[in-house]
Amino acid sequence: MGFLKSTIQVRARFKRCRAAWFPHLQHTKAAILSAARQAPERRKALLFGAGLLHDIPLRELSAMFEEVILADIVHSLPCRFAASRFSNVRLLALDVTGVAAGLAAAQRRPDLPLPRSNPAWFLNDSHLDLSVSVNLLSQLSWVPSHFLAHSHPEAEVAAMKTQLILAHLEYLQRLPGQTALITDTTWRAVPVQEINGGPPASDAAQTWDVLSGVNLPMPALAWDWCIAPAPERAQCIDYIARVHAYPDWKRCVLPGN
Ligand SMILES: C[S@@+](CC[C@H](N)C(=O)[O-])C[C@H]1O[C@@H](n2cnc3c(N)ncnc32)[C@H](O)[C@@H]1O
Repeated sequence: MGFLKSTIQVRARFKRCRAAWFPHLQHTKAAILSAARQAPERRKALLFGAGLLHDIPLRELSAMFEEVILADIVHSLPCRFAASRFSNVRLLALDVTGVAAGLAAAQRRPDLPLPRSNPAWFLNDSHLDLSVSVNLLSQLSWVPSHFLAHSHPEAEVAAMKTQLILAHLEYLQRLPGQTALITDTTWRAVPVQEINGGPPASDAAQTWDVLSGVNLPMPALAWDWCIAPAPERAQCIDYIARVHAYPDWKRCVLPGN
């Protein structure tokens, strides 16, 4: 469907933009550890979107918890190798939305309603003390929406994207133990001259929502992630994501969506 391709693209971009990504990766690791320290006990930790492990403090988590589960729809070879170095780290291949398996059928039958996400994994796991959604939320609808772009009306795909995001946020509220959310919320395109303090560029900075209209509450922590510094996507434009972190997501109230 495109999940593997997407992982390969992230890995390639990480290699090209390593320096620009570094502060974001450090902030993410710190937010994960902040959540980990607030966990009621230190039995099982679950990381959604662990992916390539760029932003996961694996060594520290492995030392803190009896078991660490790295959940992702794709586990790359470097991730498998890194995990194999820790006896208490386990990989879990999981589509956290639960809808991916139904998308091929949905593409063939656009007359039928699209599958809805209602995740239930681990809800009854009494050993689960920490769950973190790691830079995953905005990605949940990315592949599904591209997959259905030619078979379904835009409005229907837009509604599905919002539902996938809201279902994940509600799921994190229902899981046992401490839950945390780290996600990009908006992207802005900033002309490079402006960043470097040069003359204002003719293009004004543009901002767009990457959470399909879902509003998040005020974050405990927030930072900018220079996700595609010029010329990665455009010759003279830096693409900067605004990232929110909620080390204690259950204390947060989702504004009316
Ligand atoms: C931007 S990456 C997160 C950063 C990642 N931790 C890293 O080290 O680069 C988003 C991750 O979400 C995963 N993902 C996307 N959709 C998913 C789904 N439905 N279920 C589980 N994981 C998913 C991707 O495979 C990818 O690893």
